[in-house]
This record gives sequence, structure tokens and C-alpha cells, in this order.
Amino acid sequence: MELKTKAARSNGDQEAERQHAKTAEPDINHLMFASRTNWNLKPNRLAEALEHHKSSGRRLLDLSVSNPTECGFKYDAPAIMRALCAPASLQYHPDPKGLKSARKAVSDYYAEHGEGVSVDDLILTASTSEAYSFIFRLLCNPGDELLIPTPGYPLFDFLADVNDVRLVRYPLFYDHGWQIDLHALKQVITPRTRGVIVVHPNNPTGHFTKPEEIAQLNQICTAKQMALIADEVFLDFSLGSAQRSFVANTGALTFTMSGISKISGLPQMKFAWLAVSGPDAEKREAVARLEMVADTYLSLNAPIQLAAPVLLQQRKKFQEQLMARVGANLTELDAQLAEKKQVGRLGVEGGWYAVLRIPATRPDEELALELLEKRDVYLHPGHYYDFPGDGYLVVSLIAPTQDFSEGLRRILSAI
Ligand SMILES: Cc1ncc(COP(=O)(O)O)c(C=O)c1O
Repeated sequence: MELKTKAARSNGDQEAERQHAKTAEPDINHLMFASRTNWNLKPNRLAEALEHHKSSGRRLLDLSVSNPTECGFKYDAPAIMRALCAPASLQYHPDPKGLKSARKAVSDYYAEHGEGVSVDDLILTASTSEAYSFIFRLLCNPGDELLIPTPGYPLFDFLADVNDVRLVRYPLFYDHGWQIDLHALKQVITPRTRGVIVVHPNNPTGHFTKPEEIAQLNQICTAKQMALIADEVFLDFSLGSAQRSFVANTGALTFTMSGISKISGLPQMKFAWLAVSGPDAEKREAVARLEMVADTYLSLNAPIQLAAPVLLQQRKKFQEQLMARVGANLTELDAQLAEKKQVGRLGVEGGWYAVLRIPATRPDEELALELLEKRDVYLHPGHYYDFPGDGYLVVSLIAPTQDFSEGLRRILSAI
């Protein structure tokens, strides 16, 4: 999801604000358009201030950056450009699941993780967001519910609105690392709950779902006829040992999503996938229905699918650079935090972000505004990810290290 829309999210309790936005000030547009699109599209104060800053021409230290193509990483441009010029692109051979050669490249990616995924159980999509939509359409009637983690990535709200799905939040809690509050999760399940979404590792908390949690989620999902939906766009960015993918999970019907936007740092290429696993009969039925959904759109283009093996190979050099950057920025962060005792950071197991814990003496958004307007630093306040209250800031660990270091210095001097 693009920054401007994300930044336009309202402050405070997001769900309450969204409901308010959907009923506020009926006007002609509300008569003309479907109510699912009655979003509050007015930028909030921080988004407005960001636009203003951009037009001022002042140099911004962007510590929210998530676009890898703007972070100074080196790509093998000749190899990528060559791969995009395959003469076979001039032929149209539609396959609802995606070209077999491209699915084979994805299956090979999992084989390198030690996981066997059949090309028959893979469906290619233009983005992970599109994969989410396919799964939502497969599982949910209008008004059905899906459980999402909080804190979490704000993308889900809009995806759910577009697909007439109701999101219900389950809490994560931090106690020597992030964990799922499984008790609370069970309590929010209703007869309309169709599935549980996990982000592995989660954005922005950077924690992986643990094997004991997966075992419990399998039990819960099986007992309640629900599916597990695993977003693994950051799977390869573990700071410790490599973590297992959900593609091997058979304890419940499971949909695992990823794509090259993060894995290879190529969000502009629009190549993603979903893998289906689980009990055989359910898996077969899910794949057949998803194939029909995919056939309705046939949204992937031939050049990208033909280039998929090369684009996936790009991940190796990209991930080396990215992990070196994350490591350097975390070292810098810890060095600066050692000098500033009233600010800490939460443990991070993987992904591209760190969460700072600051004294909650004023709203996080006010601090973010001051940093932007007075110190030319942009970051995301915690409420943007639905943290429980003030006192949380999220910083990107993929920002160029010089910018990261200077931006952090300015942040800490404002606290
Ligand atoms: C957790 C998570 N899932 C999905 C996406 C979107 O991925 P895609 O570009 O494949 O739609 C993002 C993008 O930042 C993300 O953070």
C-alpha cells in the first residue's frame, strides 16, 4: 500500500475513527457510491505536514522508508533488464494459476528453504495484497470475520473494506519478546470467524510465530473450521537462524503468501504468490476455487512471469546487502540508546523495523509532527500500527545508515 494512503489514516482508535468516517456528513457522494468506499480520505495532520515538508525543498531524513528501491541497494540491472526481454512474451498462453515456469521458480525458492511445495498448490498474483483479496473472496461472505494481529500493519483495513470483510483484532503482548495472546484470540472468535491472519515475522514488531503457537492455532482453526492465513513477505529477513515457512503446515487449511516486493526488493515488478497446504480434501477444493477466482482476472503479465526465475535469484545479493544494513543500523541504534537511558527498543527477531519505547509524556503523533517540522525527520508514531497507547515509535532499519544515524540523533535529542 502506498505511503500517502497509509499516512492518511486517522489518529486515535482506528476502528472507531473508521466507523465514524463511514457515517459522517452524508452528501451526494454517499448516495452515488457504495458505502464500503466511504473512507475518510482527508490526510491527517502528519500526512499534511509531510506533503508540506516535501514541497519546501528541505532535505528529509526519512526513517519510515520501506521502499527498497530508494535505499541505495545495488541491483544487477543488466540481468534484470535482459530477463524482461524474453521473446516468448510476445505470445499469450494464459494459465489461471500463472505460468508453470514461474510457479516452478517459486517452488525452487521453497526447496532452497528445505520445503517441498508442488507447483499445483501455487497460485501467482500481482501482489501479496491481491493474494489477500483472493483468499478473502474464497473464505468470506459479506460481514464474515477474520482475525488480525494488533499491533500490526495498517494495510488490512482497506483490503477488508474492499472485500466486505469485518476485521477483529487479537492482541499480541510483549513479555521478553512478542507473543500471541491466545486466550484473547479464542475469546473473539464468533460463528462468523473464517480465519486467523498471522504475519511471520510481523510488521512492525518483527517477531516470528513460534512452533507452540502454530500448534495451538492449528487446533483452534480445525475445531472452528477456520483457515490460517500466513503473510511471509519478511520471512527471509531473520536476524537469528532461518525460520520455517507455513507452506509445510498441514494441521489446518493454510494459505501462505509472499512475493518479490520484499524477498528480492523489487516491489515495482508486481510478482507474488500464495501456496495452499492442509488436509488433502480441503486443500484440493480451495485450490480449485482459487483457480477460478484467478481465472476471472488473469492479472499477471507474461514478461514478469518469464523473468520470475531471474527476479527470484536477485534476492541473494539483495538480502545480503539488506541484512548488512539492518545489522549496521541496529548496532548504531543500540550505541545511541546506551547514551539515552529513558529510551529503549523492543526485541526484534526479523523484518525491516525497530520499535522504540519512549516516555509517554505526550501523544506520539505530536512528537512525530515536531520531528518533521522542526528537525526534518519523518517516522511513524505507534498508533499508526495500533500500539496500545502512546510511548511507541517505529523506525525503518533499511534507511541508509548515515541518514539513520543522524535521524536517530535528532529523535533522541527531542525526547
Ligand atoms: C506485512 C506486509 N504484507 C504485505 C505487504 C505488501 O506486499 P505486496 O507489495 O506484495 O503487496 C507489505 C508491504 O509493506 C507488508 O508489510
